[in-house]
Amino acid sequence: MHKFTEKILFDRNVIQSRVEELIEQIAADFAGTELVVIGILKGSFIFLADLTREMRRFDLNPQIDFTILSSYGPSTSPTTMVKIERDISVDLRGKAVLVVDDILDTGRTMRYLKERITWLEPDSVKVCVFLDKPSRRVCDIQADYVGFEIDDVFVVGYGLDYNGYHREKPYIAVLEEIR
Ligand code: IMP
Ligand code: MG
Repeated sequence: MHKFTEKILFDRNVIQSRVEELIEQIAADFAGTELVVIGILKGSFIFLADLTREMRRFDLNPQIDFTILSSYGPSTSPTTMVKIERDISVDLRGKAVLVVDDILDTGRTMRYLKERITWLEPDSVKVCVFLDKPSRRVCDIQADYVGFEIDDVFVVGYGLDYNGYHREKPYIAVLEEIR
């Protein structure tokens, strides 16, 4: 049995005020557009809920959709493949798309989804992630909106999991194995 300790990196209040800032920035940039917010499941569900819940205050009335993607092969391998388990189900033509995920790591998932979305002919595609690990990137992709940049550490909470656990936690913590 592996045992872990949690070291809190961003607590509930820090997350809340950063999300508030992101909403203001997004609202300014997307004013007057027909916005579609697309969340990547499962990791995006809490961040997306927090982001979109306050959008009405800024006169944004987004359509919301989710897609499920999975990767195959070891995450460090250059041959790792991404597969669509559940595709986008909203018509994106003429829309301003905002893709939301918990974290941008190697960038493979996001690069793949952005390419898929381009085929659906939206007006524009932007990317919003709560966390960014730029040191881990293997694809040439950047997010337009980032909550926080972090080092190459394994984090859980606020949607992020380890083996399906910890997603519900209202904070982001580094998970360290006790030996
Ligand atoms: P990538 O950018 O394609 O490498 O994959 C990003 C996905 O990897 C995220 O959506 C997460 O599901 C997962 N991931 C990356 N780093 C972490 C982490 O520190 N904790 C939990 N999941 C992570
Ligand atoms: Mg994920």
